[in-house]
Amino acid sequence: MSVVLVTGAASGIGAATAREAVRRGHRVALADIDLAGATRLADRLGPAACAIPLDIRDQDAWEEAFDAVAARLGPVEVLVNNAGIIHTGYARQLSLEQHRHMVEVNLLGPMTGTLTALPRMRAQGRGHIITVCSMSSFLPLSGYTTYGATKHGLRAFHHSVAIEERGGPVTFSIVHPPGTRTPMLEQEMADPSAVITFAEKPLTPEKVASVIVDAIVKKPVEVVHPAVGGRVQRIAGVFPRLMRFVIPRVAAMAERRSRSIAPATAVVRERGDSR
Ligand SMILES: NC(=O)c1ccc[n+]([C@@H]2O[C@H](COP(=O)([O-])OP(=O)(O)OC[C@H]3O[C@@H](n4cnc5c(N)ncnc54)[C@H](O)[C@@H]3O)[C@@H](O)[C@H]2O)c1
Repeated sequence: MSVVLVTGAASGIGAATAREAVRRGHRVALADIDLAGATRLADRLGPAACAIPLDIRDQDAWEEAFDAVAARLGPVEVLVNNAGIIHTGYARQLSLEQHRHMVEVNLLGPMTGTLTALPRMRAQGRGHIITVCSMSSFLPLSGYTTYGATKHGLRAFHHSVAIEERGGPVTFSIVHPPGTRTPMLEQEMADPSAVITFAEKPLTPEKVASVIVDAIVKKPVEVVHPAVGGRVQRIAGVFPRLMRFVIPRVAAMAERRSRSIAPATAVVRERGDSR
């Protein structure tokens, strides 16, 4: 059983991952900028869990988080780089500050986490870094410009570091969830510019969490879920003419579907405090 640090663990996929990891016997540090939410969930999970304040944009906070986890649960053996944000809207509608915010959290945040973890894991002779990325790392989508750019960059960073560290004591897995019923998806469903999110039936955070916690033991190189739909998206992402032909049509289909589906308010909130 491992000591696992999960970022963004107060909500959604991170919260479900923390719950599932504790259920399977791991010791879990729930790190989040929302310390109150992480603490509420950690308290419910019992002595195998603890909450840690962490803004993943802050390099010093990362060092402090690793030290705090080592003192409370033991040295971090598995880092789940999960925390992320989205600002929905077409590129021209978002402020530069919103574009920057996504780059700082979704790209620089997990990069800083990985760079903090690497020397520590190398020194202790073991470690596993799991990146929670997105299918948008394969396929540019309207309404997801900078979000998709951060996930493309994150995937490239993750695999590049994994190649550099091959043969060393640190292993790397990357998981690409499809649409998942969390507050982030709720935000997307409420914005017509991100209507393409209605193209597929969302998964539960528990399903995605199960894939992530499986990865702690199985150490897959990359997980695309669902396997078949994911392959189609990856192929479309490789061929720009196909991509430009297909995406507007999928968006139109999703728009029609959105009118027959429950409104965004029906999306179950998955915050750690169950509100
Ligand atoms: N929900 C989806 O449909 C979906 C699909 C593909 C990928 N993802 C990815 O999964 C991950 C989790 O998403 P989610 O849907 O569970 O989101 P969510 O909004 O439910 O939870 C995100 C968590 O990250 C935390 N967070 C935000 N900024 C932070 C920061 N600077 N430092 C530390 N914590 C911070 C929030 O407080 C929150 O607890 C993200 O990386 C997201 O891009 C989500």
